[in-house]
Amino acid sequence: MTSLTERTVLITGASRGLGLALARQLAQRGWRLIIDGRNPQALKAAQKELARLTFVTAVGGDVADPAHRRALAVAGRAAGGLDAVINNASILGPSPQPELLDYSLETLEQVYRVNVLAPLGLLQAVRSELKAEARIINITSDAGVEAYPGWGGYGSSKAALEQLSAILAAENPRWRVYWVDPGDMRTQMQQEAFPGEDISDRPLPEESVPGLIELLESDRPSGRYRAREMNAAEPAEGAQELRVAMTVDNLDEAVEFYHTGLGLPIVDQWASPEGRGFILAAGRATLELVDPPQAALIDRVEVGRRVAGPVRLAFEVPDVTAATAALQAGGAKPLNGAVQTPWGDFNQRLQAPDGMQLTLFQLPNEQQ
Ligand SMILES: NC(=O)c1ccc[n+]([C@@H]2O[C@H](COP(=O)([O-])OP(=O)(O)OC[C@H]3O[C@@H](n4cnc5c(N)ncnc54)[C@H](OP(=O)(O)O)[C@@H]3O)[C@@H](O)[C@H]2O)c1
Repeated sequence: MTSLTERTVLITGASRGLGLALARQLAQRGWRLIIDGRNPQALKAAQKELARLTFVTAVGGDVADPAHRRALAVAGRAAGGLDAVINNASILGPSPQPELLDYSLETLEQVYRVNVLAPLGLLQAVRSELKAEARIINITSDAGVEAYPGWGGYGSSKAALEQLSAILAAENPRWRVYWVDPGDMRTQMQQEAFPGEDISDRPLPEESVPGLIELLESDRPSGRYRAREMNAAEPAEGAQELRVAMTVDNLDEAVEFYHTGLGLPIVDQWASPEGRGFILAAGRATLELVDPPQAALIDRVEVGRRVAGPVRLAFEVPDVTAATAALQAGGAKPLNGAVQTPWGDFNQRLQAPDGMQLTLFQLPNEQQ
């Protein structure tokens, strides 16, 4: 009965190599795909193969071309928004690679256009298509952090992409931004980097894919990762998710309240003659267990008297005042003014229209 809400990922450079390997596995997992590449025959072949598994939009073009990036954004909008963007398309530059003092600046500029400016340009183009909590993966390289002689052009472009990713992450905490070194892979780019050499000892790109999927489908913090060293296969211990299941009389109003008021994205929904349901993502879930005296203390601090039943929902928000106003607009009733708690948080207790008691809290380091 429950069908996963369709997720859409935009992958650049998915006509071969790592991009195609990732597209194949995401297609098998039910993701819808938007892919690109410059060579129309290779892109068409990839689309034909992937379309046997999922819905695929292929947009031919060069990521360095602003018009092509706009076309990708249009495809993202037509898909109903993007859950993830993978900036994977990249060029090595000349092969063999010249040392920096001999590197043509004109060529370097082209390498930077594809490897640095295009990933940012694409995010700028699709920003309004990105869903809340979208995942962004920028594929970088160990050459972006290690000083290999002869890798100055490509390596410095990947270094720039790494820092750009880190700052994007800091500027956009609502997204998860990952910059990922996939490791050496047996692909056309690797062969270009080592012309005439036997590269059959390099792992296939498929071996870097599980780490990328782990980043797309879990909730790791933004940051730098190495795709093949993510312990993705480690057996999970304990629970994987805390889900609070609430029965509400007016389902649509309740969904609107939490979705619009708190900006919680809808990640699944279902409807059948037997009933309807929604799942909204609420960031990290934790289970707080307190004894009755502690519950009474929390009530006293937040409201001045004992008010909550055995269950109360608490949401960490970046701005308690703004979130309170948004929830009030949705019908919530504040039970008190916002308070500075003895433990340093800034808290506001409200009663939702469904009767549930809510605490909005802002951590000390998030306060101005
Ligand atoms: N292979 C490695 O050992 C290795 C190591 C570390 C990092 N990486 C990184 O991993 C990523 C994937 O590399 P790969 O080895 O899979 O490379 P690849 O085999 O050369 O594939 C690159 C893909 O990107 C497309 N592409 C290249 N330039 C493009 C452009 N300007 N606009 C649109 N599409 C473009 C290519 O298609 P068209 O040529 O038809 O456009 C192709 O589909 C890259 O970011 C690379 O820097 C690779």
